[in-house]
Amino acid sequence: MKSFLKNITLSSKIFILLLMILTLFSGLISLAFYFHLRDKVLSNSYEKMNIVFAKMDALGRYVMYNLRPAIIEIFEELGHHDRFIREAMSTTHVRKIVMEYFKETFPQVTYERVSPYPINPENKFQIIHYELLAKIMEEDPSFAWRGLIKIENREYLVIAKPIYAQKNCLTCHGSIEKIPKALFKYYQFKEDFPWIEGSLMGIELVKYPVEEALSEVKALVVGIFTISIISALLLLFILEGLFYNIIIKPIKQLNHHFKALREGKISLRTPLPIVSKDEIGELLQSFNSLSKHIDTTQRAIYENLKTLETIFESITHPIALINSCCEAEISNQAYKESPYKKCHLELIEKVFADKKSLKMEIDEGGKFYLLSFYPVFNEKGEVIKVVQILEDITEKKLMEERLIMTEKLAAVGQVSAGLAHEINNPLSGIILLLNQLRKNHLPAQEKENYFDLIHQGLLKIQTLIKDLLNFTRSSELKPQRVSVNEIIIDLLNLSSHLLEKEKIRVSLALDQSMPNILLDREKMEQVFLNLILNAVQAMENSTEKHLTIETYHKAGKVYLTFQDTGPGVPENIANRIFDPFFTTKPPGKGTGLGLSVSLAIVEKHGGRLYLDKSHKGAKFVIELPSEF
Ligand SMILES: Nc1ncnc2c1ncn2[C@@H]1O[C@H](COP(=O)(O)OP(=O)(O)OP(=O)(O)O)[C@@H](O)[C@H]1O
Ligand SMILES: [Mg+2]
Repeated sequence: MKSFLKNITLSSKIFILLLMILTLFSGLISLAFYFHLRDKVLSNSYEKMNIVFAKMDALGRYVMYNLRPAIIEIFEELGHHDRFIREAMSTTHVRKIVMEYFKETFPQVTYERVSPYPINPENKFQIIHYELLAKIMEEDPSFAWRGLIKIENREYLVIAKPIYAQKNCLTCHGSIEKIPKALFKYYQFKEDFPWIEGSLMGIELVKYPVEEALSEVKALVVGIFTISIISALLLLFILEGLFYNIIIKPIKQLNHHFKALREGKISLRTPLPIVSKDEIGELLQSFNSLSKHIDTTQRAIYENLKTLETIFESITHPIALINSCCEAEISNQAYKESPYKKCHLELIEKVFADKKSLKMEIDEGGKFYLLSFYPVFNEKGEVIKVVQILEDITEKKLMEERLIMTEKLAAVGQVSAGLAHEINNPLSGIILLLNQLRKNHLPAQEKENYFDLIHQGLLKIQTLIKDLLNFTRSSELKPQRVSVNEIIIDLLNLSSHLLEKEKIRVSLALDQSMPNILLDREKMEQVFLNLILNAVQAMENSTEKHLTIETYHKAGKVYLTFQDTGPGVPENIANRIFDPFFTTKPPGKGTGLGLSVSLAIVEKHGGRLYLDKSHKGAKFVIELPSEF
């Protein structure tokens, strides 16, 4: 049934459903009608039967109480004792006769007065009378029983009453001796009747065959049912027609429209004709505006797509959308023409796993490429594809190399110039002194002074060369685990003489929880000393001379800061102070190597040295890793 309903049209479905409902409805109404009519027929029949009963009863009583005593009196007066006229004095007989006449008018109604021991053998109990007696006894022995009963396959409506013996009944239904002779002669009784006053003598009943009346009712109800079904069918056909025109037709129209749209026979802009202004009309109207909206959106998307495609195609770098099998699903013209199409499955897999972009430079036969991979995510945040961009950076690389070369050359030039200048000064002095020494007539003391000066000049050149060596070759580090706090304290002790002379107040903020770290103690001492000396020199003309040294550590790094109250580093030279030989100090006072050498040492330790510009005065910060 379910699958049958699935496969039929909507109107057939509704038709079948309505038919079922209407049939059920008509059936129920007809059934109710049937029971109502049946009740009516039965109650009418009962009424008729009751009238018959009442008449028979009245007749019986008339005979018993009026006619019989009057006739007996007349017989007594005439001396005819013990005379009995059956036709006038037997209540049962009279009833029977009257009923015969009655039947002429109402042939269907039957009256019976029967007993197991009747005077007239015709009135003897049949099986059905015993059944009725049983029913009376079952219900209420003092009342009449009424109901439907089947006698010889016909259905009868029956009212049956019990007959109880009264005193005067026993005159004829008592002992043989007392029965009127005339009656005895007529019936020839053999023995006494068993009745005493109050005993149940028999029953009287009226029966009426209802079958015909009921079958009429049935025929009527069947007629009603048939008419209602025919009317229902007619109504359904009318409804079906209306339903088809109002609902099915527009739906079919919509369906055709969809089909035509799908097959490309019409465009989204072709409107559906709207014939009604009802809900269906509104629906079609909404559909029209929806398809218009879809069309506009589709065009906009198409335009955007076109623009994106043009951009995509005009990008000169090869771009491709790569799937997890390393196949290019979408690619631009540059990619298609590119000779480099190598699959980097490992890298693609890494992007899929890490969900992060990845870059790699590759050297392919003298050409340099930058390969970039970008993950493409779905709405669940999973990587579904990878965008691969190939950039030819050969030119850029060469440029960079050239630039480095140029910078290197410039640095060499700068270094050589500075070096020449720094060496030239003491050398000129030494040459001058040597010329003087050539003159033999110099006093011994003066000679000694000249040798001292020459020695000092040569030492200066040696220190310079040592610094230079440190800067360029940066001899190997000799790391050992040390406490930076301790180095600071030792250094301050060593330079206490200078600090006191320059009247410099020193504040220490050393973190006691500083870890011991691996570093080249000697080289790092040189760095700290350079910074301290720079600070001392910077504060030469300051009124407040205060040097603050701080140590602390955070996030696996160790920090040392050197802050002074000097004039600070002017903005215009801040980016040059770490250059070798850059100095603002007068010749002979500074070589300009201090900060550059310090920077080289710190960087060699894997750290950073920089000027913190956010403070007044100058603040230099050393950042070192706990391990390197
Ligand atoms: N604490 C400071 N305050 C202000 N300027 C500073 C400070 N430290 C360095 N400078 C500036 O940086 C320049 C370079 O310093 P650097 O230590 O490299 O060389 P120098 O001190 O001039 O010479 P030397 O080679 O003798 O150290 C200095 O000439 C100075 O102008
Ligand atoms: Mg210096």
